[in-house]
Amino acid sequence: MEKILVVDFGSQYTQLLARRIREIGVYSEVVQYDETSDLKDVGGIILSGGPDSVYSEFSPKIPEYVFEKDIPVLGVCYGMQSIAKIFGGKVKREKVSEYGKTKVRVTKESVLFDGVTDSFVSWMSHGDSVIEIPENCEILAETTNGIIASFRFKDKPIYTIQFHPEVRHTEFGNIILENFVSRICGLSNTWSLKDFINTKIEEIRETVGDRKAIIGLSGGVDSSVAAVLMHRAIGKNLKAVFVDHGLLRLNEENDVRRIFREILGLDLTVIDARETFLTKLKGVEEPEKKRKIIGEEFIRAFEKEASKESGYQYLVQGTIYSDVIESAFSGKKTSVIKSHHNVGGLPEKMNFKILEPLRELFKDEVRSVGELIGIPKHILYRHPFPGPGLAIRVIGDITEEKLNILKQVDNIFIETLHETGWYEKVWQAFSVLTPVKSVGVVGDERSYDYVVALRSVDSVEGMTADWSRIPYEVLEKASGRIVNEVEGVGRVVYDITSKPPATIEWE
Ligand code: XMP
Repeated sequence: MEKILVVDFGSQYTQLLARRIREIGVYSEVVQYDETSDLKDVGGIILSGGPDSVYSEFSPKIPEYVFEKDIPVLGVCYGMQSIAKIFGGKVKREKVSEYGKTKVRVTKESVLFDGVTDSFVSWMSHGDSVIEIPENCEILAETTNGIIASFRFKDKPIYTIQFHPEVRHTEFGNIILENFVSRICGLSNTWSLKDFINTKIEEIRETVGDRKAIIGLSGGVDSSVAAVLMHRAIGKNLKAVFVDHGLLRLNEENDVRRIFREILGLDLTVIDARETFLTKLKGVEEPEKKRKIIGEEFIRAFEKEASKESGYQYLVQGTIYSDVIESAFSGKKTSVIKSHHNVGGLPEKMNFKILEPLRELFKDEVRSVGELIGIPKHILYRHPFPGPGLAIRVIGDITEEKLNILKQVDNIFIETLHETGWYEKVWQAFSVLTPVKSVGVVGDERSYDYVVALRSVDSVEGMTADWSRIPYEVLEKASGRIVNEVEGVGRVVYDITSKPPATIEWE
């Protein structure tokens, strides 16, 4: 099965390129610009965008293998500028920088723009521009600012575009990618997530052999899908462990056990680590420190469990693509937003090799894989829950008392969303216990209790999000119940910040 290789130069959109190609029905995966590839089964190469200027000293270079075998190449943004430069064209920081929606005019007929109107809106994000194309090339399109938007080589299958076809704002972006994949590379669009599952299972079997793997289940979507996939691949050589760190939602421990039985028909090894986690977290206020402690303690718990039997070499993580990009492990250029514990929060030294079967997938792809391997929908469509759990929702110092308050508050909020039909409409909803106390009046008495925040967001994959426009009546219902039923809470606020600039979680 032939695939499209996407070479990553650090653009935020690189995985989206691979994802769009997969949506077309051709398998695609991303490699970093400084990684090698043996070009096995590669039927086309896309060079991604990136934040650098091709003339800066340490700018990433196109790997040598790219032009070795006459495989068709599509250079996007930085990829286009790099191609122009190495083949003798000129790239310059022009007076006009183009960011956002920009009109493009097709000036020459070509297979790449087949089925595209003469003029269309594209999504641009560049300071540098190609001002002179290499020899034996022709310009295919320009922007209304007179900037070269696309050129191709007349004697080899190399095409370039300055705009981002993978971003939804680019009209005909999918058609342009499809033209490249089907017409220029000649690949047939027969791949589906079913193939992903089969290939992954094979890959896991090859990697793990007759050794054993251990997986931590949280009851969340990603680890459930990873567990079922792993179980299909290696059967009883997979040990599923649930570390109860005491930072879960109300009654979650029981739910996780039930879910695991429901989806796998297997029992789960439960480790009661509540005391250890709370002791280690005592007095810690700094969010990144909390994440690191939790990451470390998870691993120690798994190591302890694994040491009871020999042969456990792999630790399976339900890491998905948005975790990777935000922990800045995907591109060398992206900056760290948060150390998601299943990526950046792990300790440097541990006795396991990490296996991440879902690393290339976006959340909705993970859910589709889950459906295909038979996981019930009500599990797949649960809201995401972060690995560090309530530790990053109790702002600042964590105590058992605060955790208990937060569990009750969150339970009421989520119950209210279920009752009013809003749970399914929003992407993720939860509550946050702030360290702020506020004055109130209860009966005739003065009260001085915690402020809690409710947060609910609409999103597709968690990388950007907007606050949910939940009706006032629903918020009122939740707020009324919270201040009446939960001792210690005196005020409820609703978070109306989008991501960016805020993140979804508060810590
Ligand atoms: P942020 O707060 O980064 O959250 O905007 C994006 C999504 O990721 C979840 N999240 C995590 N998931 N480990 C996880 O497994 C973590 O450390 C972590 N931090 C945030 C968050 O709940 C949201 O869905």
